[in-house]
Amino acid sequence: MAGSSVSGGRGRGPPLFATEKPSRMAMAAYRLFAGTVFAGVLLIWLYRATHLPRGGSGSGVRRWAWLGMLAAELWFGFYWVLTLSVRWSPVYRRTFKDRLAQSCNEDQLPSVDIFVCTADPTAEPPMLVISTVLSVMAYDYLPEKLNVYLSDDAGSVLTFYALCEASEFAKHWIPFCKKYKVEPRSPAAYFAKIASPPDMCEPKEWFTVKELYKDLADRVDSVVNSGRIPEAPEYNLRGFSQWNEKITSSDHPPIIQILIDRNKQKAVDIDGNALPTLVYMAREKRPHEQHHFKAGSLNALIRVSSVISNSPIIMNVDCDMYSNNSESIRDALCFFLDKERGQDIGFVQYPQNFENVVHDDIYGNPINIANELDHPCLDGWGGMCYYGTGCFHRREALCGRIYSPDYEEDWTRAVGRMEDTIELEGMAKSHVTCTYEHNTLWGIEKGVRYGCPLEDVITGLQIQCRGWRSVYYNPAKKGFLGMAPTSLGQILVQHKRWTEGFLQISLSKYSPFLLGCGKIKLGLQMGYSVCGFWALNSFPTLYYVTIPSLCFLNGISLFPETTSPWFVPFAYVMVSEYCRSLAESLQCGDSAVEWWNAQRMWLFRRITSYLLVTIDTIRRLLGISESGFALTMKVSDLQALERYKKGMMEFGSFSGMFVIIVTVALLNLACIVLGMSRVLLQDGTGGLETLFLQAVLCALIVVINSPVYEALFLRRDKGSLPASVTQVSICFVLPLCILSICK
Ligand SMILES: *[C@@H]1O[C@H](CO)[C@@H](O)[C@H](O)[C@H]1NC(C)=O
Repeated sequence: MAGSSVSGGRGRGPPLFATEKPSRMAMAAYRLFAGTVFAGVLLIWLYRATHLPRGGSGSGVRRWAWLGMLAAELWFGFYWVLTLSVRWSPVYRRTFKDRLAQSCNEDQLPSVDIFVCTADPTAEPPMLVISTVLSVMAYDYLPEKLNVYLSDDAGSVLTFYALCEASEFAKHWIPFCKKYKVEPRSPAAYFAKIASPPDMCEPKEWFTVKELYKDLADRVDSVVNSGRIPEAPEYNLRGFSQWNEKITSSDHPPIIQILIDRNKQKAVDIDGNALPTLVYMAREKRPHEQHHFKAGSLNALIRVSSVISNSPIIMNVDCDMYSNNSESIRDALCFFLDKERGQDIGFVQYPQNFENVVHDDIYGNPINIANELDHPCLDGWGGMCYYGTGCFHRREALCGRIYSPDYEEDWTRAVGRMEDTIELEGMAKSHVTCTYEHNTLWGIEKGVRYGCPLEDVITGLQIQCRGWRSVYYNPAKKGFLGMAPTSLGQILVQHKRWTEGFLQISLSKYSPFLLGCGKIKLGLQMGYSVCGFWALNSFPTLYYVTIPSLCFLNGISLFPETTSPWFVPFAYVMVSEYCRSLAESLQCGDSAVEWWNAQRMWLFRRITSYLLVTIDTIRRLLGISESGFALTMKVSDLQALERYKKGMMEFGSFSGMFVIIVTVALLNLACIVLGMSRVLLQDGTGGLETLFLQAVLCALIVVINSPVYEALFLRRDKGSLPASVTQVSICFVLPLCILSICK
């Protein structure tokens, strides 16, 4: 490993983090390889341009098909060049937490505000939310310097009730975690994983805490199921009186309650140690006021926290993720507090990891390749993107400060807050009314951006454009674990939303090329555009998986024959790119099966999610329809979960997306069967020479679609393909086949 930084020469203390790059040899080899592929791409373009079939009787179809291939290959080549940028110079980060402890006293460490956002008590059950809250409250950090805020955008009394219960349970849970170094610190995850007391724990104590947790879960679940909070006196908290019949999730006054207030005597755990501050917030909602979804609630949290704790570091995490590493705060601080190179760091993003994915996941979910390779490369360009969860921000950078080299952060500044809790809550409430943001820069220059899809990504890009750098930190023990969607429909819908957002960004004034022009590196602009142009892959891909197969059925050749020298670049680009992608995946820790499944999902996403996004976007540009914001469901039923664990692909209901998938699968099946028999009957194996690559392509598409055929012909469970999908697809496939045979 070269390039590992050694500094400290200026007497500013040893570095708190190191940056490592792959060896020069490895990078040179990669760049050489990329050069040869690029040469192959150029040759393919050249072949397409110089071998255009002449128009004339009978060959018109071939000419058009050929032009389509040329267009698709031009796009793929261009897109491949874009993706090159994100492989160019990965960097890997390592932190030295022990040096952090040596370099400053604990009381010189900055305080940290943690934001958890939830929006819907049905999709995000209160137990899930408080597990997240408890896991971040139990960070290995000074409790006096830790402030946890929950934003409940539904303003649900059930979530509030659960949080009150959690604040009581925290008094047992946090000392227990610290005493026995419990990991992970989400009680739900911990007790699900560990069934009996580990050696180091006092069994009695362990069982007591476990019982307490079970009681908590039972109480919360029964309250959630009944929808009513109990009226026992111990619940007679000020907070509950704020809920009355007039409160609905979209129409209510601001509600803020400091559940654990470190200025209070009561704010100690069972051992008498301090507890982190815990605040519940539901900002004001009125039906006729814009509320800007999660961006709005994050900005409200920024303001509320500024009057209560005003920590220089802000971390935010979605309620469906929990902290799996109690040291994440200290890791992140190693970046911000580094005297040499920490000054211009605006945020530190952790990867997203999933706890519910099984080995050889059918959806290729374990996105190791993104976490282990793509993101380190963005980091290498100084600009890991912000993706809205699992991220530590410098408050000043998030609030719009432009980086300047002579700015020195005062890490230990304290907020001059009011002593009286009620007064403080009142003051905080005045910051989260609907009208507060009118005529301010909130959502424009300050805080999280409004009015655009994927506001997180744009916010991160804006911070980078103000001169701040961002860092990606991917420790072996993952910082945050969440839930991956485990049904095909959910995944495709989720991707549709992301892709739509990215495309809108790329086509707007926030495109990395416009917004970042002259402010961030070209490589980073290209890196952002890889996602930005996801959607545009749809038509070329759809073309590539249908037209060559139909032409194969017809005996129309679209690729050079095996004996031609032009065959070489095609074969080389295809084989070498697949080998590279497989090798990278294996190197990042995926299995070959996961890689193969990911290839299938890649195909499905391109011909469904991306396609619909492209069509929607074109419609919107023409002024035909507006896009909506769809929440992905986070709970799925038990049977479906069983099927997921067995590696069965989940279809189940009728969807236009499934129709496209099934149509492509059936079409290729028909083409390979009929086409092969035609070739063999008419001209024996000799006929295959000119159609070889098309036959391979078609066969590959059939092989990769095997789970679709299984769901079509073999399975009878609820997750298989409904007959309606099959019927509609056959209506597409039959005429296409008949047309091309009888031509
Ligand atoms: C989560 O934490 C547990 C307990 O420390 C650890 O065993 C596990 O490897 C972590 N998970 C990941 C994905 O890093």
